[in-house]
Amino acid sequence: MREDIKEILLDESTMREKIKEMGKKISEDYIGKDLVLVGVLKGSVMFMADLMKEINIHCSMDFMAVSSYGNSTQTSGVVRILKDLDYPIEGKDILIVEDIIDSGVTLKYLIEYLNGRKPNSLEVACLLNKPERRKVDIEVKYLGFNVPDYFLVGYGLDYAEKYRNLPYIGILKEDVYK
Ligand code: IMP
Ligand code: MG
Repeated sequence: MREDIKEILLDESTMREKIKEMGKKISEDYIGKDLVLVGVLKGSVMFMADLMKEINIHCSMDFMAVSSYGNSTQTSGVVRILKDLDYPIEGKDILIVEDIIDSGVTLKYLIEYLNGRKPNSLEVACLLNKPERRKVDIEVKYLGFNVPDYFLVGYGLDYAEKYRNLPYIGILKEDVYK
């Protein structure tokens, strides 16, 4: 697997430190609220698990699955819901937990979709952001890292369902997908 990675962009300890800070901030901001972390499957699972352990106030978790990529490295621009939330979110304080924002199309769709269910608040925590690729405007309250425009894998992020188990974020070699 390692031979397919051009470069390690973010190693485990760098991410751990950042996620610790994010969890602390979220814990402070949501005291007295009814916090629900909504993970976007499957890319966010590692981040969700690590972030949740750094939150020291009551919170619950739920998941959605959406698809906009298929097995390609480019967004199709069309978002499909593959799995919806298990519980109602009306009146709750929702924090969408996402792995990476690229065009922003997926998150924009999710934000509008979930806002329709009248949560008390709706914010985004995202580990990675590719600002150069943004097509639609998104406000991210808790951001881990801005990253350059390479196709990234590991720590939950996949290419054709592979590489999610790498413990770090790496740049995928171009000859793997071109
Ligand atoms: P967007 O709708 O273009 O913002 O795409 C967001 C989704 O595409 C993310 O939640 C990821 O699942 C996936 N994605 C975007 N960039 C990458 C990448 O570099 N590696 C792996 N998945 C990515
Ligand atoms: Mg995702």
